[in-house]
Parts: sequence; structure tokens; C-alpha cells
Amino acid sequence: MTLRSPPPIDIRPAVPADALCLSALAIQVFLDTYATEGIRPAVAREVFGTYAEPAFHRHLGDAHTRLLVAQRQGHLVGFAQVTLGATHALAPGGAQAELLRLYVQEPFTGHGLGTRLLREAEEVARAAGAGLLWLTPWVHNHRARAFYARRGYEDCGLTWFTFEGESHENRVVARRLAGPVTT
Ligand SMILES: CC(C)(COP(=O)(O)OP(=O)(O)OC[C@H]1O[C@@H](n2cnc3c(N)ncnc32)[C@H](O)[C@@H]1OP(=O)(O)O)[C@@H](O)C(=O)NCCC(=O)NCCS
Repeated sequence: MTLRSPPPIDIRPAVPADALCLSALAIQVFLDTYATEGIRPAVAREVFGTYAEPAFHRHLGDAHTRLLVAQRQGHLVGFAQVTLGATHALAPGGAQAELLRLYVQEPFTGHGLGTRLLREAEEVARAAGAGLLWLTPWVHNHRARAFYARRGYEDCGLTWFTFEGESHENRVVARRLAGPVTT
């Protein structure tokens, strides 16, 4: 019996034609991750606003945004979004960039894709002059917090994510990018 290796997953910069699938993928992963008690109006408005296709077209046209997509046989299975120059007061000084989103579709998690996307996002930020990448995972997103901690991200303190009048506790975590990035 011949064992076939799984189809490769390629990572490349996003293009405008990806906006529709980025929107659907982002909504799916966002709901899987954060709508753990079901859907309420605030959550529904958030996904159909923040994650709508036009929003991704805007991101793709923004000079400070870098979007990487992971593609397998013509299907998007993950993406990473970096905002160059975005700063957070709790992150260490220097040229900062924010990892705004790192989303892997659930069936493709646990196989190293998140790590690949993270390292490529770090490299993109570093190549654009950033010395530090920071992000704000939700305090209850234990999988993501453990993932970043194991990849060198240090906790810098508490921040709040506010939407629709609600406040949610997030952590600020950051990693210095100086020198070559290793896996
Ligand atoms: C966080 C995320 C990007 C990681 O992607 P991934 O493809 O699974 O990453 P990898 O396969 O490279 O590594 C996964 C690690 O988590 C571990 N893991 C897998 N499932 C887990 C779970 N349910 N709970 C805790 N750890 C888990 C794996 O064992 C692996 O461990 P390691 O750090 O010792 O290597 C992905 O889970 C994801 O997209 N989650 C939903 C969206 C999200 O939370 N994004 C981050 C927002 S800040």
C-alpha cells in the first residue's frame, strides 16, 4: 500500500481576490473561538461588520497592513494579519507592530500551521522595520495564550477590548523580533 502525503499548505501574501474567503474564514474562526455560548446580536453585528468582505478589501488597500493567507488545494485554511506601526503603551519600547489576527480553521489546527503563520508574520513585520510584535489575546483563550507563551511571547499586562458597550479582559503579550527568527 502506498501512503500519500497530505496536500501541501502554502503561505503567501493575500490579494484582493481573497477578500471574500478571508471574510468567511474569519467569521467561522471568530465564532468558533468567541461565540462559545451561542449567538447574540452584539456578536452577530461584530462579525458582519468587522469581518465583512469590504472590511478585508479595506485592509488589503491599507499601506500599514500585511495579510498572509494559508492555502491548501485552492482553499483558505488560515491567515495572519499584521498592522505595522500600531503601538501599545504596555508593550516594550521600540518600533512596534501588532499581530491583529492569527486564525487557523479548526480542522487544520495542531499541525504546525499556526506556528508557520506566526513566524512568517514576524518575518514580514521585521522586514518592514518592526523590532517587536505584540497582540492582545482574550484572557479566556487559554489555547492561544499557551501557544504564544511557548513561542517566546511575554505577558506585559492587562488591557480591555471594548465592543458594543461591553468590555472584555485581554492580555498584552509581546516578543522582540531582533535577529533571525527561528521556529
Ligand atoms: C492559536 C492558533 C492560531 C494555533 O494554531 P495551530 O495551527 O493549532 O498552531 P500549531 O499547530 O503550530 O501549535 C499548536 C499548539 O497548541 C497545542 N494545542 C492544540 N490544541 C490545543 C488545545 N485544545 N488546548 C491547548 N493547546 C492545544 C498543540 O499541542 C501545539 O502545542 P505546542 O505549542 O507544544 O507545539 C489556532 O488554535 C487558532 O487559530 N485558534 C483560533 C483563533 C485564535 O484563538 N487565534 C488567536 C487569537 S489571539
